[in-house]
This record gives sequence, structure tokens and C-alpha cells, in this order.
Amino acid sequence: MATATGHHITVEGSGVRFPCAEGDTLLRSALRAGVGLSYECNSGSCGSCRYELLAGEVHDRRPDAPGLSARDRRKGRRLACQSEPLSDCTVKVAEPGPVATPRPIRQDAVLRAVRPLTHDMAEFVFDAEKHAAFTAGQYAMIHLPDGDVERAYSMSNLSNCSREWRFVVKRTPGGKATSFLFDRLEPGDPVTLDGPYGHAYLRPDDPGRKIVCVGGGSGLGAMISVLLGVAALPDAGGWTVHLFCAGREPRDIHIPESVGLVQYRLGRLHVHTAVSAASAGNEPVDEAVFRGFAHDAVLDRLAGEITDYTYYAAGPLAMTDALARALVIDNGLAADRLHFDRFC
Ligand code: FES
Repeated sequence: MATATGHHITVEGSGVRFPCAEGDTLLRSALRAGVGLSYECNSGSCGSCRYELLAGEVHDRRPDAPGLSARDRRKGRRLACQSEPLSDCTVKVAEPGPVATPRPIRQDAVLRAVRPLTHDMAEFVFDAEKHAAFTAGQYAMIHLPDGDVERAYSMSNLSNCSREWRFVVKRTPGGKATSFLFDRLEPGDPVTLDGPYGHAYLRPDDPGRKIVCVGGGSGLGAMISVLLGVAALPDAGGWTVHLFCAGREPRDIHIPESVGLVQYRLGRLHVHTAVSAASAGNEPVDEAVFRGFAHDAVLDRLAGEITDYTYYAAGPLAMTDALARALVIDNGLAADRLHFDRFC
């Protein structure tokens, strides 16, 4: 039966039942209620949140979402991150996912400032209505006041009491969301923030205290947050961190200021840069810059000690997929020592 605020979702065979507010998705309402469902991108791209609808009716926000294969569609599978229940529903999931901590909430925010970082990358600072509670490395959905545009961006700061959310965003040529963010959004303008989400957050109990952070494009923000998170730990002096900043051309590379701010806190901090299309640009490339893709830079700079580290990565899907193949398949890294969320 529908409630005044939405509907109820029952997960078959588990005894789990949770409310879903009007207009919310099946995935987000589960996470808000403390129910774990598998997911990564929250955007219809990765396919991690596939489920079967056994009873009830849902609206599919993105019917052509790449997260479903033709076979999935033939078998009647759907994506929980794209399904808005229109009635009470019963669903079947392959396996439960981790419970979200902290639980995501939706709140209003206003843009306070925009700080340019490179020719096409900037940090956007928002003041939120309620709080800024998240774990270093997580992301939030920014809903823009222009039609129905919503995108996932990683926070580049740490959880704080000032209700401040920072995001590093790289302009996507022709991209609706980044065009709006860069060209039309002014300080004082409202957005809606929904989060936190994501599993690529800092594990402070890392037994080796040796980590590698690989950031490309808008993913650099998540790696800045992880770096700040390590620096804030009581045992930061015992940690070794390798930070890889990747881009196509030299002008794409930004070394975060936080590197200088936290260097004295960490046992060892090594910063590497990798440029994949150096020969295509006119700018000279510093000899210290690795010429090639991010995963090749990691293999080159950490040769002989690849499996000594835990890895965090955020960036374009091609970058994170190549890194996963290079580390896990080609070099035998345990899959649970590589943390990233897949985005398109
Ligand atoms: Fe739903 Fe990625 S497709 S979480």
C-alpha cells in the first residue's frame, strides 16, 4: 500500500522492507534506510545495481542506460539506481551490498566560489543546508537547476562542521552538466546535493599503511580527499603515499596545493605525473613527467613492489579499467586492495 510519503519496497527472501519517498530511486531509498544494495556509479553506467522486479511498477529514468546489456534486458533485469517506484514493489537482488555509512541525504546548497585549477578544471565550493558528513574518497550527486541534470562528483575536502562541500570538476566538451557549472552557475546560485555515496573511501586501518592514489580528470578531487584523510590520521607519520596525477597533455596536470600542506605530516609522500599524449602537444614535457597512461606510470614507478600497496583510483572509466587489469590480472594484486568506483 502506498504511504503519504511514497511506497514500500520488499526484498524477496530477506525479510527486508523499506520506504521509498516519491521521486526517489530504489537504490538511494535503500541506502537512506540503512539497507545495503550493490552499486558503484549511481548513474546507470556500471551495471552493479541490477535487480529483478517481481511485483509493482517503476519509472525508468534512463531506459537506454549502458549498465544493462541486451541479455539483461531480455531477462527483464533493471537498474536500481534508475528505477523510481510508482507503487509498492517486491524486488529480487543477487546479493546484498554494504550498508552506507554515513547514510546519504538530499539537501539544498549554494555555490560560494569557483577556483580555476587548469585550463579546463576548477574547484567548486558549496555551502550546504545541513551538514558535510562523508568519508574521504566518496562522491555526491550534484543536481543542477537546469532541467533534470545530475552528475556524480567526488568531494575534494574532508567531512566538516562548516557544511562545506568541495568538488574538483573537469569540463567535458559538449557536456550539459559541466557547461552549466562552468558557464552559467554563479556564486549564490542553488543546487541540490545528494550523498555521500561510493566505496573508494580511505581505509584508515590499512595494515601496511602504504597506499597509492591515482587521479585523472574530475577524479583528482577524490584523491586529494584521501591524501588529506591520511594526513589527518593520528599515525600519519607512519604512512607512505604515492600520488599519481594523470592527464592527456602537460596543461591538464594539476598538483594539488594540499601536497605542500600535508607533506610534513606524512612519513613519505611521493608525487608523480603522467601525460598520455605528450607528443601531440606543443608544450615541452619535464623529464620527471612519465610519458604514457596512468597504469603504465604506476607499473614503472613501483616496479618490484606493486603488491606492497593498497590502491585508490578515481577518473575516467578507461583509466580505472586499465589500472584494474594491470594490477589485479597482470600483477596479482588482491582485488580487495584496489578501491575505485566505475563511472562513464
Ligand atoms: Fe546503477 Fe552503476 S548502474 S550503480
